[in-house]
Formats: sequence, structure tokens, C-alpha cells
Amino acid sequence: MDWVHIQDLARHTGEEVELRGWLYHKRSSGKLHFLVIRDGTGLAQAVVFKGDVAPEVFELSDRIPLESSVIVRGRAKEEKRAPGGYEISANHVALVHPAKDYPIQPKEHGVDFLLEHRHLWLRAPAQNAILRIRDQVIKASREFLDQQGFVCVDAPIFTPAACEGTTTLFQTDYFGQKAFLTQSGQLYMEAAAMALGKVYCLGPTFRAEKSKTRRHLTEFWMLEPEAAWFHLEDVMDLAEGLIAAVVERVLDKKKNELKTLERDLSKLEAVKKPFPRITYDQALEILAQKGIKLQWGDDFGGDEETAISSNFDRPVIIHRYPAAVKAFYMANDEKRPELALGVDVLAPEGHGEIVGGGERESDYDTLLAKLKAHNLPQESFEWYLDLRRYGSVPHAGFGLGMERTIGWICGVHHIRECIPFPRMLERIYP
Ligand code: 4AD
Ligand code: MG
Repeated sequence: MDWVHIQDLARHTGEEVELRGWLYHKRSSGKLHFLVIRDGTGLAQAVVFKGDVAPEVFELSDRIPLESSVIVRGRAKEEKRAPGGYEISANHVALVHPAKDYPIQPKEHGVDFLLEHRHLWLRAPAQNAILRIRDQVIKASREFLDQQGFVCVDAPIFTPAACEGTTTLFQTDYFGQKAFLTQSGQLYMEAAAMALGKVYCLGPTFRAEKSKTRRHLTEFWMLEPEAAWFHLEDVMDLAEGLIAAVVERVLDKKKNELKTLERDLSKLEAVKKPFPRITYDQALEILAQKGIKLQWGDDFGGDEETAISSNFDRPVIIHRYPAAVKAFYMANDEKRPELALGVDVLAPEGHGEIVGGGERESDYDTLLAKLKAHNLPQESFEWYLDLRRYGSVPHAGFGLGMERTIGWICGVHHIRECIPFPRMLERIYP
């Protein structure tokens, strides 16, 4: 008898199969027990009829606690009304290991309780769906960049200096020397772009964010493409193409998961190129029309981002920010030097900034002046300055926050559910 994964049951109807999984749900009516089994790939219902199994198997089926591991054997058939759409007429049920007093019960638990039990919460169908969509977002992103000729180059995690400002650095002791967990692989991707042309990294990044918002993690994954000879326009095109391709792929391959999450598909189907492109100045005007008065030069917070994005049915690209609110490495607009050639992409439906990037300063003297103006230690950046000493060229790139992107695509309110084991201001367990 063949061990079959639930997602493959369609190919095995009419056959005797073996399912290996966990008991997800159970109900009984006299001579019948209905056991809903989950195996990580889906749900299927095993019907245990008193007349079909040994008496001790029938009796056992009635007292298996939820989340116990089980093996069920029987004939598979399609059954539209059953959870998952398939049913096994069981002729044998074996208890592999009982789950006594499983902490998560079919009732509403508070989110703190669930986070405390994240290692078990992952078994819930909605969490399973989010993680499968995460996997697809990562695969689709890599494939898109691969097709565009980008080479994956891994960035280091231990770094000697800040990339995104010194206030959110996690410091660690590196054999008596100060080191920091990386905030972004960007600076290393700039070096790699001068070596390979078009590159990207995808890895964990760390920010000592003291803010408790639904959009902030202290450890999150970032996809960072960087390309030599690219200008601001090129990275806007790249970000637009990437996001549209990822959403299209998830809609194509992960419909069932989106259904599990009760995601409104029409919102994702609207995500087609071209995306609206507006300047920071135009974004200020949109805010003013909504009664939100900001001074020129103010940065946008979560509320402003939500207000701006609510004007659009797809991601909105905002470019040319006041240089003062952006990082030291940004190039300035030649026509208006008070502007940085930076770009952010805001997700629709209030999911906030999913992409940040822009064109980099490629001139040695200007970059050195910017380092000084930001009070950054020149010695830590000598290697980075080398990129402007030896054959410097215009270049640009961006970082796409994986969890925020996944949160938006899944329609999940808080990004803590978009990473297997979230790290937040007040959480490092489990
Ligand atoms: O805008 P950020 O800070 O840009 C950079 O780090 C650039 N060095 C990237 C580059 O140009 N290569 O971060 C990029 C994205 C944000 O748009 C957001 O989606 C995500 O990373 N992000 C976070 N996601 C979760 N939790 C946090 N604390 C995040 N901080 C940034
Ligand atoms: Mg940003």
C-alpha cells in the first residue's frame, strides 16, 4: 500500500492508500467516526465505519486526542462535502503518538498565547497557507531576477558598520572587536555589482526597532537587487516588474492558500503594470487634500503611508524624497539637489512601504562629505569608498521587505505571522 500525500490524493482515487499525519478534527455519530487528518500538504477526511475495522480500532478512533500523529489506511474517493474534498474509507487506523493536552484547542486564543506557542501554531491551516505563500514569493522573486540576468551573491551577517542609521544597530562582541548584525546587504551588493553587473541577495536583516507596530520586526528578510549602470528609472521599472510578477505567480499557484486566508482575490488581480508613479511633492499634496498637513521635509509614517496608498488600487511608487530624511549613500537630483534620488513603493490596503531604494552616490568626494555629515566613521567605510576610487559608475538598487510583501499579498494585518518565528521588541521565544 502506498503512502500518499494529501495534496496528491486526486491521482489516487479508487486506490488503497496510506495517509500519515496528525488528527486535526474529529466528530462521531454512532457507528461512524469522522477523522480529519492533516499532513502538511492538505486536509482529508477518514471515515471509520464500525463494520469495516477491528473493534479495538473503532474504539481507538473515538479517543485519539487532537494533534496526535496517526496513520490511516483505506480507499480514497472524491467527496466534495469533506474538508479538503477527499475521503478515505478507513480499514485501519494506527495511533503513532498521542498528543495529550494539546495547548491550542479549537477556540479563540489570544495572540500572545499563540505567539508563545508559535512552534505549535505553525500547524494551523492559516499559518500553513502563509508559509506556503512565503515560499512561493521567494521562488517567484528569485526566478524573476534570474530571468533578468541577476546573479545571487550572499551578503555577510556580521558587519563592521551601519547601513541604515546607527540608532537601530544590534551590537555584538566579535573577539573583542565591535561588530553589528547587518541592517541591509546593500553596501556589499554595490561591491558585487561592480564585479558581476547585476546582483541580488536575499537574507535576514536586523534592526533594533524600539517601535511596536504591525509592520516592524527586529529580524526580517530582505531581497536586495543592485545593478551597475542603473539609474532611478531603471530600479522603478525593476521593482514594478518584480512585484507584478510575484503577485501573478501567487495568484496562479497559491489559489487554495489564498482561499484558506479568505483573501479578496480581486484586490490582487488589480495589481498590473504600470503602477502609478508620483513624487514626494505630489504625495504631500495628496495628504493635504486628505487634511493631513506635513511640512516639506517631513518623512512619512505609517498613517501617512496608509492615507496615500488608499488613493490607488495597486502599489504606488514614490520618488525623489528630501535628502535629509534619506540615508547617506543616496545620490542627489542634479536639478534639485535638496532631493535624493530615492524611491519607495507602498503596498495597497494600508500595508505600508514594501520597497525602499534608489540611485547611489557614485562620486568619491560627495560620498565622503555625506559620510562626514552623517557622523559615520570613515575607517569603517574605506572599502566602500574604494568602489568610488576605482572605476566608479552610476548604479542603483532597492530592498524589498519579504514579510511586508507577504503580509499584503496574504491580507494579514500584522507581519508577525509572515515569518516562521517572529522576532520582535518583546519576543525572542520560541
Ligand atoms: O527602506 P529600507 O530601510 O532600505 C534599505 O535597507 C536599503 N539599504 C535597501 C536597498 O536599497 N538595498 O528597508 C527596505 C525594506 C522596507 O521597504 C521594508 O519593506 C522592509 O525593508 N523593512 C522592514 N520590514 C520589517 N520590519 C522592519 N523593521 C523593517 N525595516 C525595513
Ligand atoms: Mg525605507
